[in-house]
Amino acid sequence: MEIGIDQIGFFTPNKFVDMVDLAHARGEDPNKFLIGIGQDRMAVADQTQDAVSMGINATAEYLDQVDLDHLGLLIFATESGIDQSKSASLFVKEALGLPAKIRTFEIKEACFALTASLQVARDYVRAHPHHSAMIIGSDIARYGLSTPGEVTQGAGAISMLIKEDPAIIALEDGHTSYSENINDFWRPNNFQTALVDGHYSRDVYLDFFRHTFAPYLEEKGLEVKDFAGICYHLPYTKMGFKAHSIAIEGQDDAVKQRLSDNFQLSAKYSREVGNIYTASLYMSVLSLLEKGNLQPGDRVGFFSYGSGAMAEFFSGKIVEGYERRLRPAMHKRMLQERIRLGVGQYEETFTEAMQTLPENVEFTSDANRGTWYLAGQKGYVRQYRQK
Ligand code: CAA
Repeated sequence: MEIGIDQIGFFTPNKFVDMVDLAHARGEDPNKFLIGIGQDRMAVADQTQDAVSMGINATAEYLDQVDLDHLGLLIFATESGIDQSKSASLFVKEALGLPAKIRTFEIKEACFALTASLQVARDYVRAHPHHSAMIIGSDIARYGLSTPGEVTQGAGAISMLIKEDPAIIALEDGHTSYSENINDFWRPNNFQTALVDGHYSRDVYLDFFRHTFAPYLEEKGLEVKDFAGICYHLPYTKMGFKAHSIAIEGQDDAVKQRLSDNFQLSAKYSREVGNIYTASLYMSVLSLLEKGNLQPGDRVGFFSYGSGAMAEFFSGKIVEGYERRLRPAMHKRMLQERIRLGVGQYEETFTEAMQTLPENVEFTSDANRGTWYLAGQKGYVRQYRQK
């Protein structure tokens, strides 16, 4: 039975900061951000967008095409959780009217958590033929104003439907995993921004790539030339480019060219949105699907990395007619219609969104019609509404 990705929804908030503006404000050479880090713009979540509202929006994109009678599982992966106890997925379930009979929960292992959800969903579908699973990764990456990590922030969500006979990507059997208990990036309960050992995290990411990529090729009897493209977790696009450079080492020019072209296409959304933690890898998969020219049967590699740290490499094959399931025009419009914030406005928006919410509060939203948003809090219960 083939199991894989049947739908992909994508959401990012309606505000961004341009990296050239940010570089000028921080006294940096813009090329450090544009080339050295590899980012053009960074999405900014105001106080009306949190992990839940972004996850609802990404899922709403394809909901009308889901057979709800056969939906059995909903997993929400995030490291921007809004509650220490209750799952974010319950808010999504209520907002979108998903069936009460589904199993639903939230999971965490930094940016690896959406991959963990994907693997759990695949096993679920294998064990429950004709049933599907919905998985959501939704995050706001926050390091703080004027920190080295600031340029690698972002906000957004990816939602996917996993089922048999998928319309977009059929996952191949097997994976290679690698984990170690390390402190490259983490966020203790009393912190609203991440703590990070930036240069160490960069080195560890590459070590973990080496620990999973070559062993995957060996386990599956594959060569680098067998991949049409490889997608990476992109905390910033230069990070993925470093892993990509390891992958293509020693390959002939045609293979290098193909994988490099597809790497650049996979990085397009990330250059515009920034890091969306759990969903970053899948935003790069979506970018390659929508911007590239993949053929049915093409093999795509997935490198997932979550600080702390846990990594996995696996692959999938492009399904005939996949492009009919994609909505590139909708995503293009979402990015084009965003409001450009000056650095001062971004700083105000950032600071406001970090405030702890009082017991009762109401927000209005300037999002587009139809967008779900955080409308406030009543008795410490978050309220979500559709504009
Ligand atoms: N023109 C072109 N390039 C320039 C430049 C210029 N004028 N000035 C500097 N650069 C280049 C540097 O040479 C460097 O390139 P290399 O990495 O190829 O050497 C690059 O710009 C960055 O320069 P620095 O290392 O000096 O930058 P920094 O000290 O300000 O920190 C960072 C960069 C470590 C990525 C920091 O932004 C950070 O801590 N980010 C958050 C952590 C992170 O994203 N880690 C990634 C791995 S962990 C992970 O993947 C999980 C996750 O999602 C968080």
